[in-house]
Amino acid sequence: DNCRCAQCVNQDTLQRNFDTFAIPKDLSPQEISPKNDGVDVLWSDSHKSHYPWSWLSLTLRDISHKKLANQEKLWGATIASAPPEVRFDDVMSSTSPKGLADLTSKIRQYGLCFVTDSPKTPEATEKLLETIGPIRNTHYGGFYDFIPDLALADTAYTNLALPAHTDTTYFTEPAGLQAFHLLSHTPPANKPADEVLGGQSLLVDGFHAAETLRKESPGDFEILRKVKLPWHASGNQGVAIAPDMAYPVIETNGGNLHRIRWNNDDRGVVPTDIDVDAWYQAARKWDEILKSKESEFWFQLEPGRVLIFDNWRVLHGRSAFEGLRRICGAYISRDDFISRWKMTNFPREDVIASNMQLR
Ligand SMILES: [Fe+2]
Ligand SMILES: [Zn+2]
Repeated sequence: DNCRCAQCVNQDTLQRNFDTFAIPKDLSPQEISPKNDGVDVLWSDSHKSHYPWSWLSLTLRDISHKKLANQEKLWGATIASAPPEVRFDDVMSSTSPKGLADLTSKIRQYGLCFVTDSPKTPEATEKLLETIGPIRNTHYGGFYDFIPDLALADTAYTNLALPAHTDTTYFTEPAGLQAFHLLSHTPPANKPADEVLGGQSLLVDGFHAAETLRKESPGDFEILRKVKLPWHASGNQGVAIAPDMAYPVIETNGGNLHRIRWNNDDRGVVPTDIDVDAWYQAARKWDEILKSKESEFWFQLEPGRVLIFDNWRVLHGRSAFEGLRRICGAYISRDDFISRWKMTNFPREDVIASNMQLR
């Protein structure tokens, strides 16, 4: 079933090229011959398989998985002194993939990265994001370039303060990456340009907050991990979106944090067949951690400085502002981002071997 010979693996697509179930059930190896580049096995149906050493070692010793593992660096407010960043020209270099590798690796480690010295145009921003992966279309559109008005019914399109949240909690697969580029911020007519206009941006490391909750209040962590909640997007005519099923606030995979889903305004009804008081108590504690000074990374978005962050991990928000802000940005799907991160940071054969034996 895992023969790597040129006949059994489609050499263009690397897909399996035969019918597994046409192989005789009582197949057995007749001859096993080690060679320089791998091992040949002659089977009882007279097929001769070849397995390269590199493929065997990646597959059998399960080292590829560790090699591709991501070292998450959890952070709090102090990240403000040296937030991760890369230069636009390095990311867009046509001669070296190093900048793109650096960008995607930093987003994997920290859940965010700034792209500095970017051209202050939507066109360049869109090109930058497309180097990571295709832009994801939603009912709000694809790549956006807007000045807030309520043409699209969502509080993101106002100038109100927004508490830390993740986007698109109401999708079965929430947006993977999210990007913001502030192109301009002009003061209202009655105010001088040098007066503070507000609109500070906020990021919170949801994984750091979840680990804090797990440490300080393990019972509350378990409640937010176990209780599945409904989420919805209902503000636009003709659109009523909800995920395929209810999802908890904190998702884990083998004990590790996997995804944070938190927008209290988009949350549906807490299920009444559970201990409702216990859920609200856990959510209150979670809210306190998210809003603590130690968690909050406040900064000002600036033209030429694109922010890209992992919407499965990092929550975002902002303070209220005056005047008109022109912001462009987009969503990128998770799988496309992870693919770009792997392909720019690891050898292709290791990536494929790892993908083929994901557990
Ligand atoms: Fe948002
Ligand atoms: Zn074969």
